[in-house]
Amino acid sequence: MPAPETPELLIRPYRDEDFSEVSGLESAGVHEPYRSAVFVRQMGALAPATFLVAVSGTTVVGFTVGLIVQDDPGQAWILRMMVKDGFRHRGIGTMLLRAICGVLHGRSVTTISITVSPKNEPAVRLYHQEGFVQASLARGYFGESEDRFVMKRTA
Ligand SMILES: CC(C)(COP(=O)(O)OP(=O)(O)OC[C@H]1O[C@@H](n2cnc3c(N)ncnc32)[C@H](O)[C@@H]1OP(=O)(O)O)[C@@H](O)C(=O)NCCC(=O)NCCS
Repeated sequence: MPAPETPELLIRPYRDEDFSEVSGLESAGVHEPYRSAVFVRQMGALAPATFLVAVSGTTVVGFTVGLIVQDDPGQAWILRMMVKDGFRHRGIGTMLLRAICGVLHGRSVTTISITVSPKNEPAVRLYHQEGFVQASLARGYFGESEDRFVMKRTA
C-alpha cells in the first residue's frame, strides 16, 4: 500500500515555538542513550576553537563550550561549563570562563549569553563575579519547572 500523502509539507528553520514538539522528537530519537557522547562529538567537529578543556597533569578536570550565533556573529552563547567533582572551588571554573570569553572576544563577539538554573548558586555566583548580569528569567526554558536565568556580559 502506498504511504499516505503528507499534505502541505513545509521545511523551515526552527523557531522557539517549536521547542516542546522538537524536544519530544529528540528525546524519542535513537541516539537518546548516547546524548552526551553525541554532544561532545558534534561540538568537537563544529566548534573546536570554542571548545576548551582544563587539564591537570594528564586528566581533563573541566571543559566549556561556546558557540557563535550563525547569523549574528557579534553574539555568542556558552553552552557548557563544567568542573569535575573534587576539583571544584579551586578557581578552575573562573579560569575556563575567562579563557572562553577571551577566545570569543578575539573572534569579534560583543555579547556573551549563558543560561543557568536560579537554584545553581555556585554557577550564578561565578557568572556574577565575572561580570555577567541577569537579563531575564526564562520560565520553563528547558521544560516544566526548568526555569533559567539568562545572563549576559560584554565580551
Ligand atoms: C559552576 C562551576 C563550573 C564552578 O566551577 P569552580 O571551578 O568550582 O569555580 P571557581 O572555583 O572558579 O569559583 C568561582 C566562584 O564561584 C562561586 N562558587 C564556586 N563554588 C561554589 C560553591 N560550592 N558554593 C557557592 N559558590 C561557589 C564562588 O563565588 C567562587 O568564588 P570564590 O572562590 O571567590 O568564592 C562548578 O561548580 C560546576 O562544574 N558545577 C556543575 C556544573 C554546572 O552547574 N555548570 C554550570 C551550568 S550553567
